[in-house]
Amino acid sequence: MHHILAIDQGTTSSRAMVFDEALTLKSVAQEEFPQIYPRPGWVEHDPSDLWSSVAATARAAVERAEIDGSLAAIGITNQRETVVVWERASGHPIHNAIVWQDRRTADLCHALAEAGQEPLITGRTGLLLDPYFSATKLKWLLDHVEGARARARRGELLFGTVDSYLIWKLTGGRAHVTDATNAARTMLFDIGRGTWDAEICGLLDIPMEMLPEVKDCAAPFGMTRADLFGREIPILGVAGDQQAATCGQACFRPGMMKSTYGTGCFALLNTGEERVTSRARLLTTIAYQLGGKRTYALEGSIFIAGAVVQWLRDGLKIIREAGETQGLALSSDAAQDLVIVPAFTGLGAPWWKPESRGAVFGLTRNSGPAEFARAALESVGYQTRDLLEAMRADWAAGAEGVLRVDGGMAASDWSMQFLADIIGAPVDRPVVRETTALGVAWLAGMQAGLRPGPEEFAADWALERRFEPQMEAAVREAKYDRWGRAVRAVMAV
Ligand code: G3P
Repeated sequence: MHHILAIDQGTTSSRAMVFDEALTLKSVAQEEFPQIYPRPGWVEHDPSDLWSSVAATARAAVERAEIDGSLAAIGITNQRETVVVWERASGHPIHNAIVWQDRRTADLCHALAEAGQEPLITGRTGLLLDPYFSATKLKWLLDHVEGARARARRGELLFGTVDSYLIWKLTGGRAHVTDATNAARTMLFDIGRGTWDAEICGLLDIPMEMLPEVKDCAAPFGMTRADLFGREIPILGVAGDQQAATCGQACFRPGMMKSTYGTGCFALLNTGEERVTSRARLLTTIAYQLGGKRTYALEGSIFIAGAVVQWLRDGLKIIREAGETQGLALSSDAAQDLVIVPAFTGLGAPWWKPESRGAVFGLTRNSGPAEFARAALESVGYQTRDLLEAMRADWAAGAEGVLRVDGGMAASDWSMQFLADIIGAPVDRPVVRETTALGVAWLAGMQAGLRPGPEEFAADWALERRFEPQMEAAVREAKYDRWGRAVRAVMAV
């Protein structure tokens, strides 16, 4: 029996999982690492924390699985958009990684939009001019670290998203590569042609010498250093975490969609070979690239989903652990219609209002922890419906009715029932909820010749529970209408 190691380097923790060649999960290891907030709105990671937590969890997962030298392949999935720049000669980063949540380049993005650059950027990359993506963060590093741009031009500095940096470390500096899904999040990649875009690099003064080679999601990315696992192991699968989850959820047919509930929520709708341009301010992105062929997706990104439950716990202190919200929601007074708009870090898709802040509507003297808990969980459902409405508006051929869900919050039956109720469509929860790691393990396993292609993988996808909508249509629409008015009020303040 061969085994596959899936590395999932996320925003708040690194995880590693070993799967056997039938894709049965054998072991898990997880390690959190520090978040660095140098100023309000800035978020950084120390790249050495990313690397050490990945190395430690990878070794721990392999040891725990007791697989005795049968590790055949590695897959890497990662927080997307986060930027690392390091020295080619030493491997030392020149600055902390600037994380996808970091808003320091908001003014630069405004200035580029004012200068009329958004149509060019959206046309080529499928993205909007927002600090979320890598390009303006990379420009900031080159502008602020002394001598960086000149050194990059001389080929001394390398840029990478987290996958690329980890591959560099794993291979001992032998491979400077990335995959098409991570490249698609940089705002420097032409997703139609599948190449780095010289014009956008020129606009931002980014030397193209520092960009990695872009490969398929299932491809030979490099061999690890022999000392890490006792011998060299091939890295054979790479995808950004949301794209890996799209694969793990077997959303391979145009019209299929998944939504992952972590800190934020990311919904992806497979649009096949068709690159749909959004009129509703969604992102066009690469879902996966296999055999040189790109499959596209529309993506809606919400910045606060599970984080609203963390706010109940750490901010309001009305719960001790996330699991308590479900019981509170069940005990809440249904006659009160509290609405929380959790725009703590601005509003993401489809509104893109970085300056908006959150609000609570409908408070009475009887509003208490139970009503807050219910409103917090409901806000996640409402925001998902906003994304699905935008997807419907964008793509007439349209989404199939069903939404596949995963991520921590998908464990909450109450939340998933409300989600089905408010979107008015079935919500499917799979047996295997580690879809991100599963997706990249499948990509690596396929490249290793251990696993068959998408059709067979899709046939193995198993449903744990379907949530059917039960709410009356009139109630649903009245509630959603109230949410819409709350969001508009938040944007107006
Ligand atoms: O686009 C950001 C996303 O990839 C981060 O995902 O799960 O690390 O919060 P996560």
